Amino acid sequence: MSERKLGVLIHGAGWVSTQHIDAFKKNADAEIVAVSSRTMASAEKRATEAELDVPCFDDYEQALAHPGVDIVSVCTPQHVHAENVIAAAGAGKHMVIEKPVCQTPGELSAMRDAVRQAGVKTVVSFVLRWNPLFQKLKRMTAEGAFGEIYCVETDYQSYCGDWWGGYPEGRTRDMGVSAFLLAGCHAIDALRWFAAQGEFEAADPVEVFAYEGGKRGDSTTMYDPLTNSWHEDGLPLEYAGLEMALVRFSNGVLGKVSVNFECIQPYAFPVEIFGDKGSVKNNRVWSHTLLDQEDWEELPDIRPDSSDVSHHPFQGEMDHFVNCILNDRESHCNLEDAIKTHEVVFAAQECYRTKRPVSLPLG
Ligand SMILES: NC(=O)c1ccc[n+]([C@@H]2O[C@H](COP(=O)([O-])OP(=O)(O)OC[C@H]3O[C@@H](n4cnc5c(N)ncnc54)[C@H](OP(=O)(O)O)[C@@H]3O)[C@@H](O)[C@H]2O)c1
Repeated sequence: MSERKLGVLIHGAGWVSTQHIDAFKKNADAEIVAVSSRTMASAEKRATEAELDVPCFDDYEQALAHPGVDIVSVCTPQHVHAENVIAAAGAGKHMVIEKPVCQTPGELSAMRDAVRQAGVKTVVSFVLRWNPLFQKLKRMTAEGAFGEIYCVETDYQSYCGDWWGGYPEGRTRDMGVSAFLLAGCHAIDALRWFAAQGEFEAADPVEVFAYEGGKRGDSTTMYDPLTNSWHEDGLPLEYAGLEMALVRFSNGVLGKVSVNFECIQPYAFPVEIFGDKGSVKNNRVWSHTLLDQEDWEELPDIRPDSSDVSHHPFQGEMDHFVNCILNDRESHCNLEDAIKTHEVVFAAQECYRTKRPVSLPLG
């Protein structure tokens, strides 16, 4: 164990940083030692709001050089993640990396090379792995409650519109890239997570076939799921609002995953798992271990059905990561693992061009 607390630099002082800060403040082995952002005003505002008496920076290189930084929490928008990660690796820092980790397959390889070369630890914020229902279902799967898993289905269903502050950039092909990359990667990661039998294991995708579709096109009519209302003169989504992929895993499990940015409903994250001795439908289970079962058994755990970051289990993720660093262990959700999730996103895009299944890992 280290003698001093692990020092954390929060980089990118927006919405998600509030939860990274909260989680690190509550971890007894870590302390936030600096905050940086594109603008000094945002960094200082975030530090003040979080009651952090720490130096603030609008220069990332200077922030990385600040004494006592062991971990960088990369909370910037996705188009700067790759450069942020490569710089932090170069400075020998461990990293929490927000999803998606980058924009292109080329960036994936560059980040992997930089992290391998630096020998630093990473965790990628596929934070649902720490959701209480997900944890319960994985434990039950590992204990054989559903037998051998052979099929999994997950979906990210949330209308993407200007009710969300990140929409002006996230809706563009240049910045958001695709619905699977922007947010649907959570569903792909959940698919991999539930397709593996082990409690702390995600399955390896070996083939992907996908379609893109939906009805939004260049419509400027916007829905707001928070107020259940519509308005005109919105900015259109520049990429397809619906993507659906079939994924074959190396363990033989088949997966079906979608992202739906067009659905007129509140946020939902459906999960279905099928094994040869039981099934899961969200928080309802059917299992050979539940004797004389006559109806679905409902699990009382917190479900993943919220897009609000304050509902996400960042505490579990950060506690896990600090533990990994202190005990010199790799996270099950490190960059190497997250690359497999992102490769499904990029394989789907290749399918739209070639109309053929794509083998993974990508070349
Ligand atoms: N894991 C999850 O469930 C989850 C949930 C929400 C978001 N996220 C991810 O977290 C990331 C950030 O999302 P957010 O909602 O927090 O975004 P946000 O509220 O827009 O905040 C992003 C912050 O990054 C700063 N920034 C922008 N460009 C920068 C640059 N070039 N260099 C340094 N700082 C820069 C901005 O700073 P200034 O204010 O100084 O301009 C802004 O405060 C995204 O990748 C998103 O997908 C993940």
